[in-house]
Amino acid sequence: GLVTLRQCLQEAERADYGVGAFNVNNMEQVQGIMMAARQARSPVILQASRGALKYTNFVYLKHLLQAALEENPDIPVVIHLDHGDSLETVKTAISLGFSSVMIDGSHLEFEDNVALTRSVVEYAHDHGVSVEAELGTLGGIEEDVQGTVKLTDPAQAEIFVERTGCDALAVAIGTSHGAYKFKAEPKLALDLIPEIYRRVRIPLVMHGSSSVPVELVEEVNRFGGSLAGSKGVPVESIQRAIQLGVRKINVDTDIRLAVTATIRRFFAEQPAKFDPREYLGPAREAIARVVRSRMEAFGSAGHA
Ligand code: G3H
Ligand code: 13P
Ligand code: NA
Ligand code: ZN
Repeated sequence: GLVTLRQCLQEAERADYGVGAFNVNNMEQVQGIMMAARQARSPVILQASRGALKYTNFVYLKHLLQAALEENPDIPVVIHLDHGDSLETVKTAISLGFSSVMIDGSHLEFEDNVALTRSVVEYAHDHGVSVEAELGTLGGIEEDVQGTVKLTDPAQAEIFVERTGCDALAVAIGTSHGAYKFKAEPKLALDLIPEIYRRVRIPLVMHGSSSVPVELVEEVNRFGGSLAGSKGVPVESIQRAIQLGVRKINVDTDIRLAVTATIRRFFAEQPAKFDPREYLGPAREAIARVVRSRMEAFGSAGHA
């Protein structure tokens, strides 16, 4: 059933595991993720970006998410807005039945981020909805030639959380969105996590946490794709981050790769076939495999 992010992550803190937050845009993604949650008996966070809401004209996604809840009454599910940009977007998500929202003011000046986040917390908490906020900017530490990446400052995080009352905090420790996270070896500022956690005492969130599995990249490339130089966050680094205080782990790219690898292979191997169910079905299973393996690695498996 539907739970808030606060409830979900409190439980994760108590039993010491991390919960994957997986992005959804269509039926096969929702189904594949829920299939994995059932198989692993894991709580799960389904999250939708503004792009996902627009792509599905809001109402389709709303009902796909309701279907996930209806089909899985025994699985704790958080329905979360990913990277909300304004109070208006937050209100829309809450009107669609979301139990959690992210307000991403990380690009703003500190005081503006505090003010925007505070306004969202007041509205969301009045509606029984949790809030994730963000402080710091994502990006590779060593590739940051222009010096635009700002890792989260622990002292600032303490003040930010105290003043906004947010339920979870997304931190910047050197990850970035997409399939090209590092030029050379993965480098993360994992030491920042305990420093931040000690001061804020609320669950931390890691964005840009896809691992970009080489087997999926190779499958894409073998069947006509071009993903040279892609690189993700090793699962072991995420496991370390969870030990240090991260509770919500955002994964989108790995799901995109699983879908694309499966469909590219199908088109290459079965050029005479054209029934979408014949490749979207296997794509859905590939999603379930990658999601289930993350649920096991993050330790949430067995907790539903
Ligand atoms: O953080 C971004 C997520 O991967 C969602 O991406 O805005 O293309 O839907 P999107
Ligand atoms: P990835 O691109 O690493 O999957 O990150 C997704 C994310 O942070 C969504 O908010
Ligand atoms: Na989010
Ligand atoms: Zn993100």
